[in-house]
Amino acid sequence: MPKIKIEGGHKLSGTITISGAKNSVVALIPAAILCDETVTISNVPDITDVDDLEKILIHLNAKIERETGKVVINSSDIINKEITEDLSKKLRASYYFMGALLGKFNKVDMYFPGGCAIGARPINLHLKGFELLGAKITEEDNHFIIEADKLKGNNIYLDFPSVGATINIMLAAVKAKGKTIIDNAAQEPEIVNIATFLNNMGAKIKGAGTSTITITGVKYLHSCFHEVIPDRIEAGTYLIIGSLLGHNLKIDNMIPNHLEALIAKLTEAGVDMEIGLDNIVIKEPKEYTATDIKTLVYPGFPTDLQQVMVTFLTQCNGKSSVEETIYENRFQNIKELRKMGAKAKVRKDNRKASIKGKVDLVGTDVSATDLRGGASLLVAALIASGVTNIDNISYILRGYDKIVEKLTNVGAKIEII
Ligand code: EPZ
Repeated sequence: MPKIKIEGGHKLSGTITISGAKNSVVALIPAAILCDETVTISNVPDITDVDDLEKILIHLNAKIERETGKVVINSSDIINKEITEDLSKKLRASYYFMGALLGKFNKVDMYFPGGCAIGARPINLHLKGFELLGAKITEEDNHFIIEADKLKGNNIYLDFPSVGATINIMLAAVKAKGKTIIDNAAQEPEIVNIATFLNNMGAKIKGAGTSTITITGVKYLHSCFHEVIPDRIEAGTYLIIGSLLGHNLKIDNMIPNHLEALIAKLTEAGVDMEIGLDNIVIKEPKEYTATDIKTLVYPGFPTDLQQVMVTFLTQCNGKSSVEETIYENRFQNIKELRKMGAKAKVRKDNRKASIKGKVDLVGTDVSATDLRGGASLLVAALIASGVTNIDNISYILRGYDKIVEKLTNVGAKIEII
């Protein structure tokens, strides 16, 4: 199995350009099948999640052309057949085909989605939304058949502002008859990106980015061009790397105000950042002080940066605490970080960790446990003394476009062996 080999301790200088957002593009591609004509999506990151979604589109006989950074999709010959368990399991975002196929054909036949094992990750809120729109759901051994004679707008309250459920209900509602209101909707920037895409096709969605989204059904969705927003989690990962190793390191093509919570916490710890319109420059690392993190839904501290932040906190003087409120099992990377010398421990309810710093990390062999856990090990390897080999790197390559090239270009000693 390939590994990522890193020799730590090298200063990083130059520019890292951020790619399109994974958690936006994995919804945009399924959403594209709702269009009655051809759609073009640009700024598409080169990650394996996009490859896997392409496989599902091809399985459904949709036409997809892919060239660097762009996909062109036409679904006029799409066949609404079962999405096999193998294809459904490839990634969490396969579930967006539920909303898209239901929205287009009033029927979908597929299996429970895949995704990192960071918690139970049920889809009850998605299903509640589909039922309120008039769909009937039969489920047997994780095999879902969801169908409706016709979909009718309704008021849907989300018990939890779920990103996936908010987007999936939007997809099912865009062509439903009448008006749908989603209350307690998630407000992540990716949701705005999807709503803008659908509105560019002629959908009528208002309020995306707030906790109340209104969708008025339309009959026809015409072609459009759309751009994926920059990946705020990729940008946050490189910002944390820059805080630890950056010497005039510029993180470019990002949206600083999508990272307000992270920037506030890094500033609190003592990080010196020059914040531009679409970039942030780190002049040089400083001595940092411990701080406390609590993950919350947007615009709170993002759960997807919690694990990488734990690595940063090992370099902060004093005792930090991290509380993970979104997932029940998102500290698996800590046992691997401890192999490198981190002084970190997880409370028995697995919802809180405490980290003592500043410790010198030492390179060794470690295993990625999930996508963002893998990223936290990669950051640790970049600052550790000596060489680190990370295995299970397919997790990392799912969510970080050209990470080896981007880091090599700014002076890291990193390669895939
Ligand atoms: C999206 O997952 C992201 N994935 C996740 O990023 C991210 O961590 C998460 O949003 C929160 O920001 C994609 O966009 C593909 P949720 P999603 O529905 O939609 C519970 C990464 O590393 N829940 O907001 O699955 C659920 O169990 C990934 O890029 C229900 O209980 O997130 C979880 O505890 C990891 N019932 C919490 O809500 C439901 O029906 C957040 O889930 C749905 C969710």
